[in-house]
Amino acid sequence: MRKQIAAGNWKMNLTFEEGKSLLAALKSANRPSDVKTILGVPGPYLKTFQDSCDDDSLCVAAQNIHHELKGAYTGETSVSMVKSIGVRYVIIGHSERREYQKESNALLKTKVDIALEHDLSPIFCCGESLEIRKSGSQNAFVSNQLKESLFHLSAEDLSKLVIAYEPIWAIGTGETASPGQAQEMHHALRSFIGETYGQEVADGISILYGGSVKPANAKEIFSQADVDGGLVGGASLKAEDFKQIIHSF
Ligand code: PGA
Repeated sequence: MRKQIAAGNWKMNLTFEEGKSLLAALKSANRPSDVKTILGVPGPYLKTFQDSCDDDSLCVAAQNIHHELKGAYTGETSVSMVKSIGVRYVIIGHSERREYQKESNALLKTKVDIALEHDLSPIFCCGESLEIRKSGSQNAFVSNQLKESLFHLSAEDLSKLVIAYEPIWAIGTGETASPGQAQEMHHALRSFIGETYGQEVADGISILYGGSVKPANAKEIFSQADVDGGLVGGASLKAEDFKQIIHSF
């Protein structure tokens, strides 16, 4: 059985106090034991929050790491720094970083490598723009993102990843991919992985959907055969909404 995951991506939101209250609300909530909750919290909160996530079902993720191990990169955070405070996940390749920081598939490949070398599991994001969706070439575009950043990995390493399909046109827009559109892409990606690595490997990888997931649509999206959970932005900032999403499997 694939791991079911409710991941939150707080992005650059919430003060420390606000974050602590949200974490406390999630910790005290009655969460299903078979759903893993991962919170992509801001860098300055990682250690405190990781230390207070006492069980395996709730943990934090870094939102980014630098692609070099160390050196003169003012303002950046290295993989060893993240690893040394006990964090086990890192979001890599979010479309906001691809767009604003111009992160390419080739650069993301180096980030995936450095994360795996340090025993951190990447939550690897992929997804197409509205323009690409309108042209009908979304499957080829997203498959190519996987190919260029991930397909050099061994099957063993690939299996340590979580993949998040996040159509850019659905992120923060209130517009969600329909459950059918999500399933179609997730199935295409799993088949594409299967062609290269074999079906057993493909069947073991959790693929999350991201893009305006909210309590009202989570259940239907998560019920699709190839959707194993969500990467949630806006709705992960509100305890009540995120708790409902965690209960939507
Ligand atoms: P959203 O963001 O849920 O606010 O659309 C998702 C994401 O960017 O991961």
